[in-house]
Amino acid sequence: MCGIVAYTGKKDNIKEILIEGLKKLEYRGYDSAGIAVCTDTQIKVSKKKGFIKDLEKELSQENFRSTTGIGHTRWATHGEPSDINSHPHTDCTEKFAVVHNGIIENYKELREELESRGHVFKSKTDTEVIVHLIEENFDGDLLNAVLKSVKKLKGSFAIAVVSAYEPETVVGARQDSPLIAGLGEGENFLASDIPAVLKHTRKILVLEDGEAIKITPGSAEVYDFDGRLRHKEVLQVTWDAEAAEKSGYEDFMLKEIFEQPDTIRNTLRGRIKQDGFIDLSSEIKIGKNILKKLERIIIVACGTSYYAGLVGKNAIELFAQIPVEVEISSEFRYRPILAEGNVLVIAITQSGETADTLVSMRMAKKVGFPVLAIPNVVGSTAAREADGVLYTHAGPEIGVAATKTMTAQMVALYLFALYLAQLRNRIGSEREKKFIDELKRLPELVEMILSRKEHIKALAEKYAGFDNFLFLGRTHGLPAAYEGALKLKEITYIHAEGYPAGEMKHGPIALIDENFPSVFIATAGEVYEKIISNIEEIKARKGKVIAVATDGDTRIKELVDDVIYVPWTFEVYTPLVTVVPLQLFTYYIGKIRNLNVDQPRNLAKSVTVE
Ligand code: G6P
Repeated sequence: MCGIVAYTGKKDNIKEILIEGLKKLEYRGYDSAGIAVCTDTQIKVSKKKGFIKDLEKELSQENFRSTTGIGHTRWATHGEPSDINSHPHTDCTEKFAVVHNGIIENYKELREELESRGHVFKSKTDTEVIVHLIEENFDGDLLNAVLKSVKKLKGSFAIAVVSAYEPETVVGARQDSPLIAGLGEGENFLASDIPAVLKHTRKILVLEDGEAIKITPGSAEVYDFDGRLRHKEVLQVTWDAEAAEKSGYEDFMLKEIFEQPDTIRNTLRGRIKQDGFIDLSSEIKIGKNILKKLERIIIVACGTSYYAGLVGKNAIELFAQIPVEVEISSEFRYRPILAEGNVLVIAITQSGETADTLVSMRMAKKVGFPVLAIPNVVGSTAAREADGVLYTHAGPEIGVAATKTMTAQMVALYLFALYLAQLRNRIGSEREKKFIDELKRLPELVEMILSRKEHIKALAEKYAGFDNFLFLGRTHGLPAAYEGALKLKEITYIHAEGYPAGEMKHGPIALIDENFPSVFIATAGEVYEKIISNIEEIKARKGKVIAVATDGDTRIKELVDDVIYVPWTFEVYTPLVTVVPLQLFTYYIGKIRNLNVDQPRNLAKSVTVE
């Protein structure tokens, strides 16, 4: 959870290069930031609690005479956010500095050992042990010192290390936290994620677990932890730096909401073949025979990805007729796996780095279940560890709250459900064609919804002052209700709950009065009449109701306070068209309440710790 960046080259604006890189990684954590640069004989560290812009302000007058340095943006795990706990951390001699993303699980033992040998610690972090180990293991070669040190570490880490003894070298290493290298002309970079280096280069090396890298201005060499040189393929990134910027939108969240027609097209691209049918065999890699014989599917995911999983369950059960369980990864990992039958595990994870989801995947693999990952980040850990991968191709999502990646996940799951149904002969070709044609229409439908943004903004103004909301739905509408509530909580800090509308009578209806509005997912479908009854129940208790309803439904207008209309689609696809206006509703309330919608308090984009 934390972002790291490193540079070595010929440019003399090291401060700007590191800070610009960190800003692209701010989504990984933003409670403190710091940089360390190598001058002729020393390491100079500047670090501070707060946003990167606070550090930038503090350094505005500084002019570092250096061409090599490392930077860090933090999301605290060990040691509260403070200046002293911010990275980079230095050793006793102040000749080495390290930045780290991850958790060193055995840091207490290591710290005790190091202290008993005379090392003096400055911070309360787990990270600081790394730099003292490097100090001890240094015998004239930084790479060797890092290799010796990482072997002592248990846990997860992506690190970048500089030393005053080798002022034009950065050494990195990774174990269970992401690290990439950007290769330039006469300059090289390390970073937690590609957007941090995109402005400078599109040539990328993705490091694997157990690999270290030494970069100088003219070289980038990858080694295993035993010091054996490794040959790595260079990845040519096709998305441009612009894709990782705001492109004129006020916030990343708004930009990402409006990108959805394109991202949905990207998720569909190349997967519907000339004959009009879906073929995922070359991507999924898991044998058709295995897929045909499946008796059960378990979906594991966290947060918004979990709600996408619920959408996937409904689609897979409807089309492919296989029972699906959807599990929250942090729960799944602590329960015994019933290792029986032909089971496929699907891990849905935008980042591909969520710790609980990765552990759940590993548990499934251990009992012999094939694992399909649905990640957004190419080359992420989930993608590399899974047996098959279905990328969502939504492009980088910078806003902490997931928007475009969720709709992309839904589309990937719709594609998979239909593909599976076809493989297992559970859907006639005519019926399948109808659903595939409608899938292709989804980008247009989302465009229509986005064109109604002014109406949604007006509703946000009307409702921004309420302190509590319920989001209610049934069957296909329920995951959208859950997600609507989650978005509102995380972006606006308004208390909101997603609930099955039919369960209201069993308790929550006691909450309802004129100050407690409910948002109903009330689109056309099998449970429409039931939803209408639930709305009546709320209205009878003076509750205000906003309904998300299908275009042309005039009846509902008479019943509720406000309606957000969405175009008609098959019921199974309604989560996608109903979630989009709820994203906008939340976004506008967040803006009205003057909040940082891209970086809500206490949250991080990628939860790489338990
Ligand atoms: C964090 C993010 C959420 C995301 C969840 C799961 O909580 O803030 O937006 O849904 O992690 O992340 P993943 O990368 O596994 O989809």
